[in-house]
Amino acid sequence: MERIWWKEAVAYQIYLRSFYDSNGDGIGDLPGIIEKLDYLKDLGIDVIWVCPFYKSPNADNGYDISDYQAVLEEFGTMDDFDRLLEEAHKRDMKLIIDLVVNHTSDEHPWFIESRSSKNHPKRDWYIWADQPNNWQSIFGGPAWQYDKHSDQYYLHIFSVKQPDLNWENKDMRQSIYDMINWWLDKGIDGFRVDAISHIKKTKGLPNGQSSTEPPWEHMMNVDGIHNYLDELYDKTFSNYDIMTVGEANGVSTDDIYKWVGKDEGKFSMIFQFEHLDLWDRNSNAGVDVPKLKEVLTKWQHALDEDGWNALFIENHDIPRATTTWGNDEEYWYECATALGVMYFFMKGTPFIYQGQEIGMKNAEFSSINDFNDIKDHNFYKQQSEQGESAQAIIDTLNVTSRDHSRTPMQWSAEPNAGFTTGTPWLKTNPNYKTINVESQLNDPNTVLAFYKDMIQLKKSDETFTYGKYDLVFESSPTVFAYTRTLNKDQVLVLTNLSEDRTPIDLSQYELGHLLLNNYSEVDETVLKPYEARVYQVK
Ligand code: GLC
Ligand code: CA
Repeated sequence: MERIWWKEAVAYQIYLRSFYDSNGDGIGDLPGIIEKLDYLKDLGIDVIWVCPFYKSPNADNGYDISDYQAVLEEFGTMDDFDRLLEEAHKRDMKLIIDLVVNHTSDEHPWFIESRSSKNHPKRDWYIWADQPNNWQSIFGGPAWQYDKHSDQYYLHIFSVKQPDLNWENKDMRQSIYDMINWWLDKGIDGFRVDAISHIKKTKGLPNGQSSTEPPWEHMMNVDGIHNYLDELYDKTFSNYDIMTVGEANGVSTDDIYKWVGKDEGKFSMIFQFEHLDLWDRNSNAGVDVPKLKEVLTKWQHALDEDGWNALFIENHDIPRATTTWGNDEEYWYECATALGVMYFFMKGTPFIYQGQEIGMKNAEFSSINDFNDIKDHNFYKQQSEQGESAQAIIDTLNVTSRDHSRTPMQWSAEPNAGFTTGTPWLKTNPNYKTINVESQLNDPNTVLAFYKDMIQLKKSDETFTYGKYDLVFESSPTVFAYTRTLNKDQVLVLTNLSEDRTPIDLSQYELGHLLLNNYSEVDETVLKPYEARVYQVK
């Protein structure tokens, strides 16, 4: 068993804009993170991933970068970044940053040059065509934008302000590698690599199967992508002791070793997407437990011997899990903690998304003006044009919007959740008066206290890190349970992910200590609604 630091780490994702505002302009910033490092240390965090803070016109909140090597003024300065890195390291925490190289902003100097003329040497750094094909963008609408000046169209699989880089161009790739190495030489500890499964497009850019859906088959994990990833790895990541997490929509367990395997892998781990949509948007039924078990177990088995999993249930692109996967009213505390236990003790590196550790919930948006996300605004426009009523569109967005996870972090019951002394860039969830860090900090019966215990427990025994995963009570439609086994040591993780009291027969286990539980009273023969327990097994 080879010990590796990022396998033993607990990671925390910061959506900078919404984390903590240090200067009252309503926008979270780098000095704001520095002020909260002790909070993260106390929580038990080892690795911090910070979402993009680079120069950007903010069409997609920083995922549209106009200068990879500069900090956007509203987030602070490069000195602030250096200080953040130093302060994190002082506390023995690692810092990884977002690497967005599928596309840049249309305001990046590379694109400005590229669009300046058909003959410009950088023309080929982006993807230009005389005629568009039928591709639709992931954020809605055609994936091609006409450029009047040079009379061609450019490709953008995300928003119109995010032209795709052309990875076929060698000079472009080399500039990206130089930029990556510049950051690595600064001493950062790795990257979360944005949208990386999209960098390769099918040669010849053929029409997609559908003209209403994005052409996934032509721009997601397309054959040949590993030529680029190999080179990226060789010229950058492989020369440093870092942690890399690829955001890899469309990658399945079939070809996972090419992504994270010992011999062929280019990333420490990836974020896979298969478990994200396992809930019904039209009902409050919660997560599809049998399907969730099937998918996550498949990933656990695939990466048992070779490779490594990134474990997560929330991020800045999906609504809050306690709301979508559970019942955030009657069983709010039980849900927030049981969902935590369910994924946290699997084999892999767990990521906690800001606010998840206090049980933050979805917001209620009442008009389109409440939303910030470009994806939502595109959707609103598109659906309105098709005659859908404003209320119906808002109802849909209230279920699906990425802004649910982007509302300001709830630090206290002070105005605007103590996030800012000014006006926050996105409305604070009114429930901050009851759900906030300060009120949970010194109370042992809170989601926050539970998360701290969970983190300490994971670190207390390497069975939780290196032990083998086995699903148990496999056929139960409500219980997600598994054991982790390392040599002679075994733990049993039990979660009831439903509101049904579920009888359970534990007689086959010689149970040792009850290591963690989210109900004060434990009946060994029944799991109460959203009950979670972790036992040592003798
Ligand atoms: C990733 C990011 C998302 C962003 C998109 C385009 O999916 O997580 O927030 O909008 O890439 O960069
Ligand atoms: Ca600020």
